[in-house]
Amino acid sequence: MSQHIKQAAEKITVPKLLKMRQNGEKITMITAYDATMASLADEAGADMILVGDSLGMVIQGRKDTLGVSIEDVIYHTKCVARGVTRVHIMADMPFLSYQASYEEGVKNAGLLLKAGAESVKIEGGEEMADLVWYLNKIGIPVMAHVGLKPQSIHTMGGYKVQGKTKKDAEIILDDAKIMEEAGAFSLLLEGIPLEVAEQITRSVQIPTIGIGSGPHCSGQVLVCYDILGANPDFKPRFVKGYADLHEVVNRAFSEYIAEVKSGVFPGEEQSVHRDLVAVKAEEKKKS
Ligand code: KIV
Repeated sequence: MSQHIKQAAEKITVPKLLKMRQNGEKITMITAYDATMASLADEAGADMILVGDSLGMVIQGRKDTLGVSIEDVIYHTKCVARGVTRVHIMADMPFLSYQASYEEGVKNAGLLLKAGAESVKIEGGEEMADLVWYLNKIGIPVMAHVGLKPQSIHTMGGYKVQGKTKKDAEIILDDAKIMEEAGAFSLLLEGIPLEVAEQITRSVQIPTIGIGSGPHCSGQVLVCYDILGANPDFKPRFVKGYADLHEVVNRAFSEYIAEVKSGVFPGEEQSVHRDLVAVKAEEKKKS
């Protein structure tokens, strides 16, 4: 663990995140779905981990997030929680875990907290205001996800930037304000023009975390595998890769495979010998 993290190993709580926003300190969020990746994000100094329903795509290999269940997110939240000490853990509420009824939404959000999450994220605006209000009242902090909402892929007609027209931008701005008023402690702004994200960020007091929404948000989030460059075929405009994991992993796996095939691995260094003194003593005892 770096010296920087050792000195600042204070738990990142919701009040701390609100203070960061007040102080104009940028908030960093990285998705993670397992203990190893979560501990790497924690050690690197991320402020928040999102156990995103993007796990449907990057872990389960689905084409969208709609098939992810509450049990899936509970499982991955438990894995993440075992790997971290400092970073704030937020869990996504997957499709149909909160839309069908208010009661189900409350119960499922509670199950995520029992699994180790410290807050939850739901997609929606005005239509989710009552749920957000109640969750906040019973001690479940909520981030509201507005703009491009992947769980509404079929109404949007694909993963398309939202809020390009004045009217659409106003609807997103209104949703953001309503969510703040309802008690959301933060907003996720996905896939909206940077001007709209800037206007929302100026209009609310709570942190705005952006993805594909420009630099004026209070913080940013990216999927861990996109930061690491794991998939060379997925390079949307809003992603910046900070490593070439695809190349690193491909090289390491290929070398391992070649060495096993050729008999180089395992070698002397990775092997143990019998204890010849003990073997001789055993033989002597037997004879
Ligand atoms: O599910 C997820 O990972 C998300 C991010 C893309 C913000 O919602």
